[in-house]
Amino acid sequence: MLRFIAFLAIAVASVSAKEPTQTPEAGAKFVGAVGCRSSSCHGGAGEKRSQYITWSQKDFHTRAYAILLDARSARIGEAVGVSQPQSSARCTVCHSPFQSVAQTRLTSTARPDEGVSCESCHGAAQPWLRGHTRTDWTYATRVAAGMHDLRNLYVRANACVACHQNVDADILKAGHPELVFELDSQSVNEPKHWRDDDSWSGVREWLVGQAVALREVMWALNTQSAPSDELKAQGWGLGWLLAETTNAVPELPKISSGMLKVAEATQKGADELARVAAVSNWSEMSVRNLLLALASTENQFSGKGVMGPPPAAPQRAQRLVLALERLSLTLNLAPNLEKELTALREDVTRHYDFNGATFAEHLRAFRAKL
Ligand code: HEC
Ligand code: HEC
Ligand code: HEC
Repeated sequence: MLRFIAFLAIAVASVSAKEPTQTPEAGAKFVGAVGCRSSSCHGGAGEKRSQYITWSQKDFHTRAYAILLDARSARIGEAVGVSQPQSSARCTVCHSPFQSVAQTRLTSTARPDEGVSCESCHGAAQPWLRGHTRTDWTYATRVAAGMHDLRNLYVRANACVACHQNVDADILKAGHPELVFELDSQSVNEPKHWRDDDSWSGVREWLVGQAVALREVMWALNTQSAPSDELKAQGWGLGWLLAETTNAVPELPKISSGMLKVAEATQKGADELARVAAVSNWSEMSVRNLLLALASTENQFSGKGVMGPPPAAPQRAQRLVLALERLSLTLNLAPNLEKELTALREDVTRHYDFNGATFAEHLRAFRAKL
């Protein structure tokens, strides 16, 4: 079996999502969600001013801190030697980001218990808080002042994936949910407090998300001396999906099966794919062709053809099901395919009893309905 080859982390650090991407932010201060809340700003009625309401009442991210105080977190913490998850950087980097930045970067209004709040995604606001409402400030002026350019899907995917893909193996083993990043559905579930109007933005988000997820998994494989089989399997699963995808869509930079044998090459290739995917053009025909190509892979879920350790087959299948869902949704085919999609989803919920033959059969049924 082929092994991932570990390279020096330095060579690849430039494409890690955890690296700061906007320089003005380096020492910028956080003001906290309260700074965005007034009714004339983002805490009002009506679609244009309701972002605070959506976040504070419906968004999962407000709970991210409180979860660290519950029994499940206590158990995870205990298993990894963390007595207080709510104040350990091992958990707060993702669940309570204000606690893992230097105290000097917090203004008095930033509350450590607000969970993942506005500035976790939009960037530290002090440098642009006053200016960003001026009518003579364009979107570009705000971005230059340090607001993250989240309209750019590549920047957006990097913001989310930093907390949504890689989590340390010991934390996973202690019972933390496995993180499976998929930008399109996770944006819908967030729930969105913005609109992506373009009819192909769903496909674009799906593809950018999968590409940055592959990059992050490869980054982790590259930097760990003894990566777990689960992590390797995630890499092989995602790599397979993107190799199939870029093979079916000639305009995209290729992820080749040869490339997949070298984690560093795959990491670079995945980053390149993400940048191109963020501005990719789609049509009904090209999405349909891709959906058909991906739905015609039923021979690739069992036997020697599946590269990687055993969990690679269910990882492959899980990533494929997400793809089939997102693509059929874009084409408005999903309602008609609900029964077939449900069967496929069910096949991948428990990786330990994944059955390649059953999955192949369900995949054939799905394709027959297309
Ligand atoms: C890399 C970022 C990251 C780190 C580090 C992290 N988590 Fe999480 N955690 C997440 C994300 C993202 C979710 C949501 C997963 C999902 O539902 O798909 C989550 C979910 C959870 C859940 C389940 C919440 C629910 O609603 O079911 C618990 C409990 C939890 N984390 C506790 C911890 C503890 C304790 C630590 C530290 C030992 C920790 N997490 C470290 C990102 C992280
Ligand atoms: C989990 C990440 C995340 C959090 C938390 C978050 N946002 Fe956003 N927000 C986004 C993304 C992604 C977009 C879409 C890109 C854009 O329009 O700039 C967006 C868009 C916006 C927009 C533009 C809406 C439009 O229709 O163009 C505003 C205003 C906004 N957010 C305000 C807020 C405020 C205020 C908070 C906190 C109460 C907040 N956001 C919390 C990710 C986030
Ligand atoms: C600073 C870290 C962080 C960032 C940045 C972040 N999230 Fe999260 N997200 C979390 C944590 C932690 C949870 C778990 C909270 C819970 O389950 O209560 C979570 C939960 C979620 C959930 C609910 C669980 C799930 O997986 O379905 C969605 C959806 C989600 N995030 C989408 C997004 C999107 C989209 C972005 C980018 C626009 C984003 N997140 C950015 C940390 C983050």
